[in-house]
Amino acid sequence: MSAIVIDGRKVSKDIKDELIDKVSNLKDKGVLPTLAVVLVGNDAASQVYVKHKKKACEYVGIRSLAYELSEDTSEDELLKLINELNKREDVHGILVQLPLPKHINEDKILLAINPSKDVDGFHPYSVGNLSIGRDGFVSCTPAGIIELIKRYNIDIEGKNCVVIGRSNIVGKPVSMLLTKENGTVTMCHSRTKNIQEVCKRADILVVAIGRANFVTKDFIKDGATVIDVGMNRLDNGKLCGDVSYDECAHVAGAITPVPGGVGPMTIAMLMNNCVKSAEISASSL
Ligand code: GUN
Repeated sequence: MSAIVIDGRKVSKDIKDELIDKVSNLKDKGVLPTLAVVLVGNDAASQVYVKHKKKACEYVGIRSLAYELSEDTSEDELLKLINELNKREDVHGILVQLPLPKHINEDKILLAINPSKDVDGFHPYSVGNLSIGRDGFVSCTPAGIIELIKRYNIDIEGKNCVVIGRSNIVGKPVSMLLTKENGTVTMCHSRTKNIQEVCKRADILVVAIGRANFVTKDFIKDGATVIDVGMNRLDNGKLCGDVSYDECAHVAGAITPVPGGVGPMTIAMLMNNCVKSAEISASSL
């Protein structure tokens, strides 16, 4: 049997379409949701991501303010810009595209963003809130993964969930979110022993390690849900995930493709966080 293909493009569009109404309500109240997008340097992949983010803002009706700064921008200059954006009442979200040039300390920059505008959910305050189950901004890729699972009516409660990868932006937060949804979560990483056996017990397997086709059919339990966060460029130029899709699709019950699975969800959840921030700000008017 072939797995259900989890269509991230469709779900992402559905979410953005739902947000159009919310944005329109905010505008009726005199609040124009606004996202400041800060890009430093010429990283090609970052330029593409930023372009997609601006396009999504346009689609949803969010105003985007683009700050495209040169590679030699100093840490102090960037901190100054963030402080200005923190103070502006008409800016609801601040996104600093990563990676930053080597001479800038990323941690220092993320710490400078006011947590009430931290729509990427990377500030330690946001991460802390997530870890103790308080409301706050959740980083977009992990939030998008949970949203995909829920919108396909796949139960998390009581299920064995295995996450491969322990990064701060995917592995750790998605593990916390799956726990919050009452899954029983195991986090695997480069030092995990018998990783294949551990994965084979998973009802829900999330893979976020950045290694092309690492997960083969021998890792997958019959009927499992497989979420592939990988985005790897092969020598032939083709994109592929961390999961060997063709063979795993015959064993899994549901699986995300690459591209078109988790990727589009990241931007939809960013839009969601921006609207949420603008709503919070409108409620205090
Ligand atoms: N670089 C790669 N992914 C992301 C992301 O989700 N947010 C930011 N700010 N930078 C990134």
